[in-house]
Amino acid sequence: MATYLITGVNRGIGAELAKQATAAGHEVIGTSRVVPDGQDWLQLDVTDPKSVARFGRDIEGREIDILICNAGVYLDKGQNLDTGFALDLWAQGMAVNVAGVFATIQATLPNICKSRGKIAVISSQMGSNARAKGGSYIYRASKAAVTNLVSNLAVDLHGDGVALGSYHPGWVATDMGGSAADINAETSAKGLLERIDILSMETTGVFEGYDGAEMPF
Ligand SMILES: NC(=O)c1ccc[n+]([C@@H]2O[C@H](COP(=O)([O-])OP(=O)(O)OC[C@H]3O[C@@H](n4cnc5c(N)ncnc54)[C@H](OP(=O)(O)O)[C@@H]3O)[C@@H](O)[C@H]2O)c1
Repeated sequence: MATYLITGVNRGIGAELAKQATAAGHEVIGTSRVVPDGQDWLQLDVTDPKSVARFGRDIEGREIDILICNAGVYLDKGQNLDTGFALDLWAQGMAVNVAGVFATIQATLPNICKSRGKIAVISSQMGSNARAKGGSYIYRASKAAVTNLVSNLAVDLHGDGVALGSYHPGWVATDMGGSAADINAETSAKGLLERIDILSMETTGVFEGYDGAEMPF
């Protein structure tokens, strides 16, 4: 049994990751921005320094084997080059998808290092330079940046025995992915958990799909 910490478990892929990891007998510490009554999730808004600091105190001393940074936003979907992509959307998108992932990792690092654990970041093939199809500049740039962050942290945390990977979850039917998506959250989460399970120091820095497909950076 391992202890998973998963961000954004209140809906979408995060909810399914938490459900399946729990069903497999693991301990799951879930986080969400808003914690409804009766839920034991930890409150975490990854863009709010006070929330991140409180979250760090909440998990103090607990060993975490696997951190999954799942929380993310796609704010510029469908925007056009002439009038879209306002500066405040850039700030928000980068705050959640890049700085927020970094802050989550930084707050969790003592717990992960303690157990020589692993860190999985849910990125996207939309951030791949080799698959640049235009549009969605904020989302694409944020996912390119977070994949780059994972590559660099994989170098810096190698000595601590902490393995990191970036994962493309597929095009998934969630609020973000929409109903025309290729796969459901169940299929995506199942594949992601299998890939994360085999992440090791030998494969640290990997960027791959939920189905094991190698992703170009
Ligand atoms: N769906 C796809 O096709 C697809 C494809 C490629 C990559 N991804 C990536 O997969 C991950 C999950 O996506 P999804 O489809 O499950 O999206 P979703 O259904 O829109 O869920 C997004 C999750 O992120 C949380 N979140 C947003 N901003 C946050 C913040 N500031 N602090 C903490 N949590 C925050 C949301 O919480 P609230 O409910 O409070 O907003 C929600 O739990 C994302 O990183 C996304 O970029 C998805």
